[in-house]
Amino acid sequence: MEIISNKIDDIFNNINVVPLLSLDNLDDSIVIARALVNGGLNVLEVALRTNYSLQAIKELKAAVPEAYIGAGTVTTTAQFDNAVNANADFIFTPGVTEELLKAAIQSNTPTIPGISTISEAMYADDFGFNRLKLFPAEALGGIDFLKAVYGPFPGLKFCPTGGVNFDNASQYLSLKNVFCVAGSWVTPKELVKLKKWKEIERLASEASSLHS
Ligand code: 3PG
Repeated sequence: MEIISNKIDDIFNNINVVPLLSLDNLDDSIVIARALVNGGLNVLEVALRTNYSLQAIKELKAAVPEAYIGAGTVTTTAQFDNAVNANADFIFTPGVTEELLKAAIQSNTPTIPGISTISEAMYADDFGFNRLKLFPAEALGGIDFLKAVYGPFPGLKFCPTGGVNFDNASQYLSLKNVFCVAGSWVTPKELVKLKKWKEIERLASEASSLHS
């Protein structure tokens, strides 16, 4: 499990913000990814929420090799296997199940399980996962929740997501137990619909300038 944590640290070492891509068609995926990378964000999460997600991961891996492409919203072991077969560099799950954690250990794929309670964090930690997603962060208490968790669990590090945006991201990033934040604010559906790629690049550039 040490190996999985190390791989996660290698991927997330130089970035603070992971943009979420939820793709309604395949044509735009490469141009969106390019805009994000041009803006300075090179760790991207493709949410498995549309029919195009797995194909998009495969195509982005080939077309944008300078970026890490992960799969998000992975809720079943079938999705987990599909994401691994699509060559995803890492996996985010919104919650934890024994099956998903075992699949992650077995495949040795960098996996960041999602938790929303202390018990779930302890459960994931028991399996050896100490890099966790906090979801849905703002609804759970956000900054205050993470500050409270640090006392008893200083070894756990979190990627909060769900309600994180440009205005509150720096506050999250200033916490000792936050290793990055993730969210959809860099790729707003409206901008994607209007194909405003330069504007997405500007949001990415603004996000990549965020520091702890
Ligand atoms: C996720 O899957 O990580 C969240 O749905 C992202 O939440 P946001 O849309 O509030 O950024």
